[in-house]
Amino acid sequence: MPQQVPQDAGSGARRTLVSGGSGFIGSHLVARLLERGDRVTVVDDLSTGRRANLPEEHPRLRFIEATVKDAIHVFGPGERFDEIYHLAAAVGVQLVLEDPIRSIETNVEQTSAVLRFATRCGPEAGPARVLITSSSEVYGKPPSAEFCEDDDVLYGPTTVLRWSYAQTKAIDEYLGLAHHARLGVPVVVVRLFNTVGPRQVGSYGMVLPRFVAAALRGDPLEVYGDGTQSRCFCDVRDVVEVLPRLLEQPRCHGRVFNVGSDEPISIGDLARLVIQTLGSSSEIRHVPYASVYPDGFEDLHRRRPSLERVRTAVNFRPGYSLRQTIVDLASSLREGLSAGEGIR
Ligand SMILES: NC(=O)c1ccc[n+]([C@@H]2O[C@H](COP(=O)([O-])OP(=O)(O)OC[C@H]3O[C@@H](n4cnc5c(N)ncnc54)[C@H](O)[C@@H]3O)[C@@H](O)[C@H]2O)c1
Repeated sequence: MPQQVPQDAGSGARRTLVSGGSGFIGSHLVARLLERGDRVTVVDDLSTGRRANLPEEHPRLRFIEATVKDAIHVFGPGERFDEIYHLAAAVGVQLVLEDPIRSIETNVEQTSAVLRFATRCGPEAGPARVLITSSSEVYGKPPSAEFCEDDDVLYGPTTVLRWSYAQTKAIDEYLGLAHHARLGVPVVVVRLFNTVGPRQVGSYGMVLPRFVAAALRGDPLEVYGDGTQSRCFCDVRDVVEVLPRLLEQPRCHGRVFNVGSDEPISIGDLARLVIQTLGSSSEIRHVPYASVYPDGFEDLHRRRPSLERVRTAVNFRPGYSLRQTIVDLASSLREGLSAGEGIR
């Protein structure tokens, strides 16, 4: 259990809570919020995040190592936040396959705890604004090539564990939207598509850091299947720029937004782009899905968001090229290597 931690009551700066703030996306968001002048509290249990992703010391940053539920438990009654960004989660299908019970419980219980807390921790004990990070996985396996926020969804059976990640994120969305509709909590749900960039690690199967790390080592880049499956990759710095703008707008509350890139690239082409951009001597090796996921795994052939809603709402225009992202991700992996962490 964490110690009760007093919140600095000093300035009139915005008070912001970021759960999962020392993870990949969370740490970039924290940097953005500090830049904006917020007083930021990060709650992270460091299950996949790293303390080193955040500044060691910053006058407006407070770090609490705990699960979200435990931290909320020990916050004093006067603890107030204007905004909450809820990113803490067991992220990705691979983690769910490895540790399903903990992953399912984490994703649902922590979100429920955050939303309950949000009803009373805002200004004058009213609600705080909450942004919930959901996932493109929520779309399941739709027939259409482009995913729109109001599309129907289709999942596989509950006996196929892979779908539990999508379902937990869908429950999070229901919880968020219900808190908005029934309790007046200003909630925004964001469905993130493949987000990539510096500080991302490949340990949980994320494809781009896995490719970049292999290219830096000169090892083969392992492409699952024939490599024609495609994804759209958006730089994390573009993603974290738009999240506070969505939460700020009252007209976005109670709504769901896709956030990502809508420019697809096949995984085979992605591997070639990594090798070419980094001038690597690596080769590409095709690996059958069955050897990576022996229990059977349904991969979607395409995954491309419609960005019309987020463009109309806040004029979202991603600015980083994929080539730039690869270069910056490679630098961050090299820095980790020189800090003795190894390339993961
Ligand atoms: N990276 C992507 O491409 C992507 C795509 C879709 C959705 N998302 C969502 O974005 C969010 C952030 O993902 P990420 O890629 O930065 O992953 P990440 O694993 O780097 O970040 C998750 C963070 O949450 C922390 N955490 C996990 N359980 C916790 C708990 N119970 N209490 C406190 N902290 C906890 C971890 O230590 C980690 O720092 C997640 O909600 C994820 O589902 C990410």
